[in-house]
Amino acid sequence: MVDKLDWQGGVGKEWSKRMDGLNCLLGPVGDVGIVALGDVAKKRVLDVGCGAGSTSRALAGLGAEVTGVDVSTDLLALAKHDGGADYLLADAASEPLGGPYDAVYSRCGAMFFDDAIAGWTHIRNHTVPGGNLSIVCWCAGKENGWASIPLRAARPILGDPPPPPPAGTPGPFAWADPDYFAPILKQAGWKNLKWQAVDADAQITTGDDPDPIERAVQFTLRIGPLAKSLEGMAPEIRTKIGAVLATVYKDYLDGDAVRVPTKAWIITAQA
Ligand SMILES: C[S@@+](CC[C@H](N)C(=O)[O-])C[C@H]1O[C@@H](n2cnc3c(N)ncnc32)[C@H](O)[C@@H]1O
Repeated sequence: MVDKLDWQGGVGKEWSKRMDGLNCLLGPVGDVGIVALGDVAKKRVLDVGCGAGSTSRALAGLGAEVTGVDVSTDLLALAKHDGGADYLLADAASEPLGGPYDAVYSRCGAMFFDDAIAGWTHIRNHTVPGGNLSIVCWCAGKENGWASIPLRAARPILGDPPPPPPAGTPGPFAWADPDYFAPILKQAGWKNLKWQAVDADAQITTGDDPDPIERAVQFTLRIGPLAKSLEGMAPEIRTKIGAVLATVYKDYLDGDAVRVPTKAWIITAQA
């Protein structure tokens, strides 16, 4: 589980140190989600869980007037530093969000609300009737190499990973199942709901790293499900797993970058 408190604390901090690699990982599926939002020129757009603001700036670059909202002070500090949009430190699920907005976008920021129906109702209440929604969220962990490859590599040392938590448990795969997220958005009042899966190979390194394998190892030891299961473990275990990962990632080295398969849902709807 990864919840709001994690984002306000250590998870937000780790992300803020690694946004260049994270943008490479989330970029390909995130860009499909931006296209799915339609023409945003001159529209007021809310970017839910905007993090360091990469997608807020991308939307602003398309002519939108963007407000990014997030609970992580570390990530919002980066967003504000780079500018490009207005940024709001607030819980998107329950606190005032300004607006009303003509459109709502979220790249992997939708899956962390304790009460998802209440949260997405709250966001719809800040959206004009008919306003477009585009949410990007991960399909199951087994379809996402950034999660499955490290867990598989660490299995001989850590044993079998715990079974995935029940659908909806706040975390990266909370919205992996359409049978879970579709009723939530419907009950929250969003109409014309559609979704499509998008496969993309994505880098977990930047392409500019002097040692991409080492960069991928350090990324994996700090971000994602393996990092979560290593919390509180002895440094020797991390070193041992790091060595295994370094061998495994050689198979995923593509030129100057380590590239893994990703798969996400692009969910669209109207308020
Ligand atoms: C997986 S990250 C994605 C960040 C950003 N959208 C990106 O693609 O780089 C999830 C983001 O959602 C934010 N978040 C989690 N719960 C939230 C909440 N209740 N309200 C606003 N933001 C939230 C986190 O702080 C984090 O920045």
